Amino acid sequence: MKTLEINGNTGNSKIYINKPFTYAEKLLKGKRVVIITDNNVKDLYEDKFPSKEIITIGAGEGIKTLQTIEDIYKKLMDLEFDRTGFILGIGGGIVCDIAGFAASTYMRGVRFGFIPSTLLAQVDASVGGKNGVNLEGHKNMVGVFSQPEFVICDPEMLKTLPAKELKNGFAEIAKHALIGDQNLFEFMEQNHKSALELDPEVIGRLTRDSLVLKSGIVNRDEKEKGERRKLNFGHTIAHALEKTLGLSHGEAVAVGIGIAAKLSVKMSDLSGEGENRIYELFKNFDLNQNITISCDEIKKAVRRDKKREGDNINFILLKKIGEATIEKIPIKVLEGVIDDMC
Ligand SMILES: NC(=O)c1ccc[n+]([C@@H]2O[C@H](COP(=O)([O-])OP(=O)(O)OC[C@H]3O[C@@H](n4cnc5c(N)ncnc54)[C@H](O)[C@@H]3O)[C@@H](O)[C@H]2O)c1
Ligand SMILES: [Zn+2]
Repeated sequence: MKTLEINGNTGNSKIYINKPFTYAEKLLKGKRVVIITDNNVKDLYEDKFPSKEIITIGAGEGIKTLQTIEDIYKKLMDLEFDRTGFILGIGGGIVCDIAGFAASTYMRGVRFGFIPSTLLAQVDASVGGKNGVNLEGHKNMVGVFSQPEFVICDPEMLKTLPAKELKNGFAEIAKHALIGDQNLFEFMEQNHKSALELDPEVIGRLTRDSLVLKSGIVNRDEKEKGERRKLNFGHTIAHALEKTLGLSHGEAVAVGIGIAAKLSVKMSDLSGEGENRIYELFKNFDLNQNITISCDEIKKAVRRDKKREGDNINFILLKKIGEATIEKIPIKVLEGVIDDMC
């Protein structure tokens, strides 16, 4: 299947889609490799890892901290690992974010690559060059932009993934389709059953199209000055729901996108029919929209958003399925529309 390339100011990345992850051995031949992974992934796949030098971190958002990074630096020093070596992150988005940040800063930067093992990491987190950790509970507060040399997406690894984790990935694929690829949206509508059954052809196409979209945006706007903000579609509200209602990321993104779609009908050109297709798609991927949230919560989320600039917010709306626009909207106006909607 297709190999994609990202040529950014912070480095070039090759992304292999539908490749067995053991292909890493070929890419890394003759190099000293230290693997960073989490407990779950190690238990499942260690026998096929391309190196026996392994640093294991725990699992969960709570370990995405500077303390974990410091522990990794110390282990690398104990291993007498230097700039001639290569760091390989094998795991979900958390492992990729941590391995990428540790590799980009240890000795001012060593070479690194990823084998993403969750659907979310394959279609989103492993690509784009953002690596970082949380600080005092604030997500991704400290980090760097730097590209992994390669990313290998192996759909076989998804077979061991819990359903809840798969849904997180499908929500991000839907996001990519909605902001920039109408054909991908239609493909999801037509193939939701095979996608949920992890048909490798279907997963390969979803991954490829998702990454073509994301890498295209990243190539044009690596440091998030403009177009890259579209990748936050639905996330302003999602982040608040994740915290307050304890939803999974995918469920929260689906609801966030649902609300953004409603706002798009009111404030942009999305049709009511388009809005309904979005709800239907999420229903088919078992991403529930029937969650009660108060308007106050939505308004609070908007006011706290990182993309706020004084009294305005850069809010992402849909013109139609497959086309997003970034609108600078006065917060007061947006709150008025939210009030009307409630
Ligand atoms: N850098 C970026 O651009 C970017 C983009 C999106 C998300 N993220 C980050 O990604 C993180 C979320 O990533 P995630 O959803 O992959 O979560 P995760 O890394 O926590 O993985 C989810 C769970 O699945 C387990 N797991 C991983 N692979 C498995 C497999 N093949 N089989 C069975 N279990 C497996 C993990 O051990 C973990 O328990 C968040 O911290 C988020 O901020 C980063
Ligand atoms: Zn997300």
